[in-house]
Amino acid sequence: MSSTQEAALRLQGIVKTFPGVRALDGVDFEVMPGEVHALLGENGAGKSTLMKVLAGMYQPDEGQIIIAGQPVRMTTPIEAKAQGVVLIHQELSLVPEMSAAENIYLGELPVKSFGRVDWKTLEERSNAILKRLKCSFRAEMTVARLSIANQQMVEIARALTVEARVVIFDEPTASLTDAEKVVLFDIINDLKARGVGIIYISHRMDEIFTLSDRITVLRDGAYRGTLITADTTEDDVTRLMIGRSLDLSRDEEPPSFGKTMLEVRNLTCPGLFEDVSFTVRTGEVVGFYGLVGAGRTEIAETLFGLRKAASGEILVDGEAVDIVSPRAAIAMGISLVPENRKEQGLVLQMNCRDNMTLPQIQDLTAGPFVSHGAELAIFDQYRDRLAIKTPSWRQSAGVLSGGNQQKIVIGKWLSMQPRVLIVDEPTRGIDVGSKSEIHQLLRELAAQGYAVIVISSEMPEVLRVSDRIVAMYHGRIMREFEIADVTEDTLVQAISGIKSEKTP
Ligand SMILES: Nc1ncnc2c1ncn2[C@@H]1O[C@H](COP(=O)(O)OP(=O)(O)OP(=O)(O)O)[C@@H](O)[C@H]1O
Ligand SMILES: [Mg+2]
Repeated sequence: MSSTQEAALRLQGIVKTFPGVRALDGVDFEVMPGEVHALLGENGAGKSTLMKVLAGMYQPDEGQIIIAGQPVRMTTPIEAKAQGVVLIHQELSLVPEMSAAENIYLGELPVKSFGRVDWKTLEERSNAILKRLKCSFRAEMTVARLSIANQQMVEIARALTVEARVVIFDEPTASLTDAEKVVLFDIINDLKARGVGIIYISHRMDEIFTLSDRITVLRDGAYRGTLITADTTEDDVTRLMIGRSLDLSRDEEPPSFGKTMLEVRNLTCPGLFEDVSFTVRTGEVVGFYGLVGAGRTEIAETLFGLRKAASGEILVDGEAVDIVSPRAAIAMGISLVPENRKEQGLVLQMNCRDNMTLPQIQDLTAGPFVSHGAELAIFDQYRDRLAIKTPSWRQSAGVLSGGNQQKIVIGKWLSMQPRVLIVDEPTRGIDVGSKSEIHQLLRELAAQGYAVIVISSEMPEVLRVSDRIVAMYHGRIMREFEIADVTEDTLVQAISGIKSEKTP
């Protein structure tokens, strides 16, 4: 090999427009063999679009793709894969009715004579890849029956079927547990050691600084620069990304709490959570912190009428209530912004306005007609308030950037004017700038008199938004902290099941 190493892949002057949006405006980018190159930018900056151009899903309007020194044209994902470029999607792109094995080799199923699928080889090869990924399920399983995290693993497995030159990970960790992340990072380091170029997209600065060699920043579709990770700080990157430093302080105005709006007494759902008791006052944000699987989401689902508790009591505004359905929960003023916006929060084919007003459609209906004016007024209000980036309300939610989709879901539930607002992982997949806006917004909502519950697996997030923190471990509340008394150490202890005050 020559002393000046050839890039595994280089992009020059890529331009891509969609109706009403210049998604990419002359972007340059390269990845070297054995390099992890992070791609960063706010929601809607154009990261996924650039990667789809690379993976043959979109044709650029202008610009060139150069692989190993040669300009190439890639018009389909299969062609891109043949060039050794594999994209692991941000949105899962599996066929749910098919098995994991069929998905892994989709479009390239091994065949025997007469074109018949060689099932035995297919399953052997697929299971070998899943084993390499330390997956505990079999390749014969139907994808629809796998958890979201395992579906993500199938996406990753798909990339490992070829001798890849470049592997692109577009926000791969959004739905993975910490243990699964460790496996993923091992795989990335393994690919890197074999000289594969890795492009890594994430909004998690900690991951970017752990994994990457260089960082390229996009802003509003334009190339902003490339930094060497080792010589860079988070603040440098943030400034390049959003044009300013982030104010991470809390508003120091003392919160004023009102009456107890929600009270939960000894709530139990066997196998999920046990003997859970807590209160939330108006004006207060209570953070639920714990590891994935600690039972927090299940408690939220019970409060929203999606699950039935075996025993215990729920009181809203001092009255014992029986929450039999989400409709009943909404009527009592309880709203839930769910954890998984793709599955539970958004209808991707539907436009932005209708997605936002969906739960209110009955209230907005006069006679047989829906009042589109009223719908639009609601949409406009929350688009401005949450700074949602979309060219028009007519845009279908599915083509919005991931973070903007999350904002639509939050706007939808805010527009219901709830008394108790529960948000489950509110900023997953959201860029640092919008994240801080959403934190601010949650604090403001509390100040306006809402009782707010925030479920989060990110410590900086619970520390920033909460007045009180409930720490959970294996379905039980381990400890409750006032924000003034909490330290990172005691919090980590509590969610790991260590009871500091009761050491024998
Ligand atoms: N198929 C499409 N049709 C119309 N507009 C699109 C399409 N795909 C993307 N866009 C628009 O292009 C812009 C860039 O979107 P993209 O998905 O690339 O952002 P991103 O940087 O990946 O954001 P995120 O961090 O939220 O995932 C956005 O304004 C988006 O709405
Ligand atoms: Mg994206």
